[in-house]
Amino acid sequence: MPQLPPCDYVPAKYEGPTKAEVARLRSQFLTPSLVTYYRDPVMIVAGHMQYLFDETGKRYLDALSGIVSISAGHCHPKVIEAVHAQNAALQHVTTIYLHPNIALFAEKLVSTLPEGLDVVYFTNSGSEANDLAILIARAYTKNFEVIALRNAYHGGSQGAMGLTAHSTWKYSVPHGFGVLHALAPDRFRGTWGYDDPEAGHKYAHDVRDLIERGSCGNVAAFIAEPIQGVGGVIEMPPNYLSDVYHTVRDAGGLCISDEVQTGFGRTGDAFWGFENHGVLPDIVTMAKGIGNGAPLAAVVTSSKIAQSLTEAIHFNTFGGNPVSCAQGLANLEVLLEDDIQGNAKRLGAMLIDGFKRLQKIYPIIGDVRGRGLMVGIELVEGTDKTPAADLAADVLETCKGFGLLIGKSGFFGNVLRVKPPMCLTEADITFMLEVFDTAFAKETA
Ligand SMILES: Cc1ncc(COP(=O)(O)O)c(C=O)c1O
Repeated sequence: MPQLPPCDYVPAKYEGPTKAEVARLRSQFLTPSLVTYYRDPVMIVAGHMQYLFDETGKRYLDALSGIVSISAGHCHPKVIEAVHAQNAALQHVTTIYLHPNIALFAEKLVSTLPEGLDVVYFTNSGSEANDLAILIARAYTKNFEVIALRNAYHGGSQGAMGLTAHSTWKYSVPHGFGVLHALAPDRFRGTWGYDDPEAGHKYAHDVRDLIERGSCGNVAAFIAEPIQGVGGVIEMPPNYLSDVYHTVRDAGGLCISDEVQTGFGRTGDAFWGFENHGVLPDIVTMAKGIGNGAPLAAVVTSSKIAQSLTEAIHFNTFGGNPVSCAQGLANLEVLLEDDIQGNAKRLGAMLIDGFKRLQKIYPIIGDVRGRGLMVGIELVEGTDKTPAADLAADVLETCKGFGLLIGKSGFFGNVLRVKPPMCLTEADITFMLEVFDTAFAKETA
């Protein structure tokens, strides 16, 4: 039986309402649009680094990290110390006054980005950051149309929903506008596969074709994640982004990299996902991992492009809030000082190798993909890659039983996603692989 690695931390005894009572209150007073994982949902009341605890004190290895939001670790002591101090001193002022945190955090953030990406606008969520990036691109270029990718998820605000492509995340109401969706460069399910060295160029050609034959010819922007997260851990093929960036700039547009999931060292090989593709975006959006759990996001661009926002007043009440910025700055300091990116690279390689070994044993593992600690395992049935969504749901349940919380993604919900807090250890990876081995053996017996 796989056993969680030892952990000294003991959470405070939970004394709040029972799980049944919380479930009742939630179904009575919260929007019915909320969804939970698992047949018997988990209630989480405490967190410590890579671990979560339910109301009974049961410990779980968190391999989803609040949907890719916990970078340094749950309640990391240095982050907590900075936030406690800021909460005690001052919880909120807006940018109409000077405050050191927003300025110091912006300086530190810019130091992680290549030259030319040097001006920050803080927001509270990734959706807001993407909305703002599109606004900036349109204001700067005076063009209107935007190219996004099919299979993309960029948020749920009305603007970001227009960029998002999955029908499962879109309502039948007017949302976004002027957005055209190019082919998703999915080498597992798409026309050009992993064995085609020209796949990147071929998928990129679709963007040129879309601009020439599907738009007015001039675009404001192209937006893509270097690895589609919600879309099922689909990494852009080699040469794809460089070709597309070239095409988009020819058509007068700016290139936006949505680093909401791929930023802050998660891909291991680089601090920012775009750096794995040898491109330099004009605008970068980030959220989730920026705050280690704080409602914090940002848009970074050049000072020249940022100037376009001064045509009117743009204001965000909580963007750059002192507490959020204290949390973001402390998180970033930990990431850089503790070489968390190096950890993501080393442990990510171990994880991907482990899954590739399991793939040789279990034919249901159709594809193992990702980089660093952003890993997807696509489950399929038969020889025609039929998505095995029910099986994925069963694997989730089995993993939960052993104390491992993972996610699922992809249009069909058949891609297991493993994106843990980046502070985890080799022992956690070994445990995880043992659990998956046991779960796959059980589900395929
Ligand atoms: C790549 C990407 N962009 C944007 C968003 C939207 O972020 P938020 O939920 O903070 O609005 C998400 C959320 O999952 C995301 O994965």
